[in-house]
Amino acid sequence: AIAARIDRPLVLVGLMGVGKSTIGRRLAGALGRSFVDADEEIERAANRSVGEIFEAHGEAYFRDGERRVIARLMEEGHGVIATGGGAFVDEETRALVLENGLAIWLDCDLDTLVERTSRKDTRPLLKTGDPREILFNLKEQRGPAYSQAQIHVVTDDGPHEATVARILEELA
Ligand code: S3P
Repeated sequence: AIAARIDRPLVLVGLMGVGKSTIGRRLAGALGRSFVDADEEIERAANRSVGEIFEAHGEAYFRDGERRVIARLMEEGHGVIATGGGAFVDEETRALVLENGLAIWLDCDLDTLVERTSRKDTRPLLKTGDPREILFNLKEQRGPAYSQAQIHVVTDDGPHEATVARILEELA
């Protein structure tokens, strides 16, 4: 019943490590819709990892490619799209998402972000200093952009099912 009422792609936004990809996949499953991860699509299109793109061309170049990929994924009509943490902070990308999708901001505490991001070594922005300090600063800087999402869900370190259930309630 909920699925029938959602006519736009659900676009998950929020900081690195908040669980956008994991929760996105489960949310899509619960809704019987397709799931796609924008970072993976960028890597496929560029035939390089996100880290390699940052290294070879810099962040501004990555943001342009990211915007084009997210625009295409929304056009393709996917049910749920997970985006990289900086996508919704880019003004043009944010406008595009707010217009064509339904943005869902996933938010959680700093300790959880630090713990989750420490499991993988793939994030160029966390390699330039102390990850906790970087995440703390990004949380401050990006809060105003994320808060423009149509839906805000605070997750904790609890089971992903609980977060998915919370999102489904918000959509109902
Ligand atoms: C970024 C987050 C990453 C990835 C890139 C930049 C950011 O995605 O797009 O490393 O600016 O926060 P995740 O949020 O999936 O880690």
